[in-house]
Order: sequence, then C-alpha cells, then structure tokens
Amino acid sequence: MSENLSGGIAVSQERTFVAVKPDGVERGYVGEIISRFERRGLKLVGLKQMQVPVELAERHYGEHKGKPFFDGLVKFITSGPIVAMVWEGKGAITLARNVIGATNPAQSAPGTIRGDLAVEIGRNMVHGSDGPESAAREIGLFFKDEELIKDWNRAVDKWVCE
Ligand code: RTP
Ligand code: MG
Repeated sequence: MSENLSGGIAVSQERTFVAVKPDGVERGYVGEIISRFERRGLKLVGLKQMQVPVELAERHYGEHKGKPFFDGLVKFITSGPIVAMVWEGKGAITLARNVIGATNPAQSAPGTIRGDLAVEIGRNMVHGSDGPESAAREIGLFFKDEELIKDWNRAVDKWVCE
C-alpha cells in the first residue's frame, strides 16, 4: 500500500482485521466499539455480522493451537455472532491494538476498549491483528476481496493525516 512521509518517518497505509467477539455483541457494545475506531480516524472498509464456523475459528487462532486455553477460545468465539471488520489508515494495525488495549483487561489502560469495558482475559470483547502478516491472513480468512471497499478517499482524510 502507499507510503506517506510524516516527520521524516515513513508510515504505511495499512489494513487490519478487527472483530467484536461474542461477549461484545451479547453485551450490546457493537456500536460503542465501532465508534471508538471511527473517532480515532480509521476508515471502515469491511463489515459483517457472522456466526464463526469451528473450522474458521481454529484457523484464525491457529498460532495458539496446543495451548491450554485453545479449546475454550474456539468454543467461546463460536458461541454466538461476532462482528467482523476491516479498518484502514496510516499505521492502522498498531493504532487498532492501542485502541483495544492489552490482552488481559486487568492490565489494559483506562481509555482502551478492554480497559473500560472488560474484566478478564477470556472475555476481552475485541480482536485485533497483531502485525502485517496476520492482518493480511485474517482479512483473507474472513472477507472476500469484493466485500471490501476499494479506492475510497474521504473528504475528511486530509484533516486526519497530513
Ligand atoms: P486477540 O488475538 O483476540 O486480539 O488477542 P491478543 O492478540 O491480545 O492476545 P493473543 O495472545 O493473540 O490471545 C488470543 C486470545 O486468546 C485468549 N487468551 N486466553 N487464558 C489465557 O491465558 C489466555 N490467553 C489468551 C484471549 O481471549 C486472547 O484475546
Ligand atoms: Mg492475537
């Protein structure tokens, strides 16, 4: 994706995969969570509510296969609808992780989604890709190319980034 120079540091336009997990949907925080990414200035280029099949959950969380929490994690993520999203923007992967907060809500900073809304690690409300490779992999797992908005330049973008 295109590179923009900001203060001499190249920061890429990126896409990241974010999902409101079943606890966030059940608790009625879908709007609140979407709103936090919108307010930060990120651009929503993919969105759908879905029930995750077990096979997809196992592939998505494949890096955790064999860990003690893996089976419970798959059970949880397939237990009810999620809201899958793709957000785009300069440094979007790190930005989204910062909006979400640390994995364990007990250690998440106030002002983050997990730090404001969650209590424990197994009910931490939101997923966000942890790097460029996982972002590309996860977007490909959850979205077809034609489901994503392309070449959308918002009038407001020039007020978000230089
Ligand atoms: P996520 O993938 O969901 O965005 O979370 P993360 O990167 O912050 O954390 P990660 O290490 O990828 O863990 C994935 C999810 O597994 C659950 N987990 N439980 N009981 C445990 O020790 C434990 N460790 C991880 C959490 O739901 C975490 O979000
Ligand atoms: Mg992760």
